Order: sequence, then C-alpha cells, then structure tokens
Amino acid sequence: MKIDILSIFPSMFASVFEESILKRAQDKGIVKIEIHDFREFSPDPHKKVDFPPFGGGAGMLLRPEPIFECVESLKTEESYVILLTPDGQIYKQEQAYSLSLKMHLILICGHYEGFDERIRTLADLELSIGDYVLTGGEYAAMVLADSVIRLLPGVIKEESHKNDSFTNHLLDYPSYTKPRVFRGMEVPSVLLSGDHKKIAEYRLEESIKRTKERRPDLLER
Ligand code: ADE
Repeated sequence: MKIDILSIFPSMFASVFEESILKRAQDKGIVKIEIHDFREFSPDPHKKVDFPPFGGGAGMLLRPEPIFECVESLKTEESYVILLTPDGQIYKQEQAYSLSLKMHLILICGHYEGFDERIRTLADLELSIGDYVLTGGEYAAMVLADSVIRLLPGVIKEESHKNDSFTNHLLDYPSYTKPRVFRGMEVPSVLLSGDHKKIAEYRLEESIKRTKERRPDLLER
C-alpha cells in the first residue's frame, strides 16, 4: 500500500512513522508513506496557503489551488482520497478494515480555522476521528494511517487483530499474564485450565459482558 499525506507541517510526522511497528512495516516494504508539503504548490510568491473568508468572519481558510495541484500530481486510478475534518463521517474499525484493502490512500490534512469548501470535491470520503476539534488534521491522519497499517498482511499477526475491540461489535476480553496472583488479585482459574474450548467460551462471555457494561451502543448495532 502507498499512503500520501498532504500537510503544511511535514515534520510533525517524522517520529510517528519512524518508530516501532510502523517503521518495521515500511522497512519490510509493506507500506510506503510519503509526506507532501502542499505549500510548495502555492501560486503565491510568498507561498501563502491561507486567506480570510469571503463574506467576513474569524480566521483564515486554506485556499484550494495548492491542495488541488498536489492531489492531482499524486492521483492514479487506484487512489482513494480522504479529507480529515471534524464534520466528516465518524471513523470506525470497520472502515479501517475496508481502507486496508485499498492500494493507494491520499490523506488531506485540513488546518487553521478551516478550508475553502471547494476542496471537499477532491475527496472520495471525509472522515472525523471523533466529536472534538483538533488544531489540524495531522493528528487524525496519524491515527488513520496507524489503524490501517496494522491491519495490512505481515505487519502484526492476524490473530492479534482478529480479536481486537470493535471487531464483531464487541470490546476485547480481559487478559492476564504472570504472576498468577498479584496483590491479592488472582488470574481467573479457567485461563490456567488448559481447556481451550472453555477458555474460548469464557472470553466470548467476558467480551459480551464488558460490551454490555461499557458500550451497549455497540451491541445494538
Ligand atoms: N481536524 C480537526 N478536528 C478533526 C477531527 N476531529 N477529525 C479529523 N480531522 C480533524
């Protein structure tokens, strides 16, 4: 998979993609990530990318030309263009699965107080990572890239994400490791029994119980 990210703050991404699992995924050639500073595409002699809104009002808006030209320089028939914005569709795990099947993602990070409305016409999909407003779409692009890359074959063991929270609309079951007793808190005996059928039943029951308690809205879906 190829992921191109458009941002006027490319250095924000450096450490995020240069560590741990995301770095290994790139080293193995499973994903190629490129950050593009769309300021370079600005027609302005001073490379300005934002202007005040027509009709007045607070703040500055990203102008359309640099983003259009940057996207057009990257786009192929396999590209899927996503605009990160708080008024987009709320991002969910099932979407992470469907995006992990794409060949090429182009992520556009909005910034400042907003962007020219015409930029929306570039996007196949507008996504929000939650009902709160960030200073920029960069954080949302990092979240999206991370959640998609970990699902690509060869990045983590398939078994590790088969039981992820939200898969099958359930939260994950509780897990334990050594020691068997810690400050009076014991590991449930079924997990030490070696009976894999019983363990699977226990885990499913606990998943359902936890989802009922914490996220009943998931079960309704
Ligand atoms: N940009 C600002 N806030 C955002 C959010 N919640 N999701 C995606 N992009 C954003």
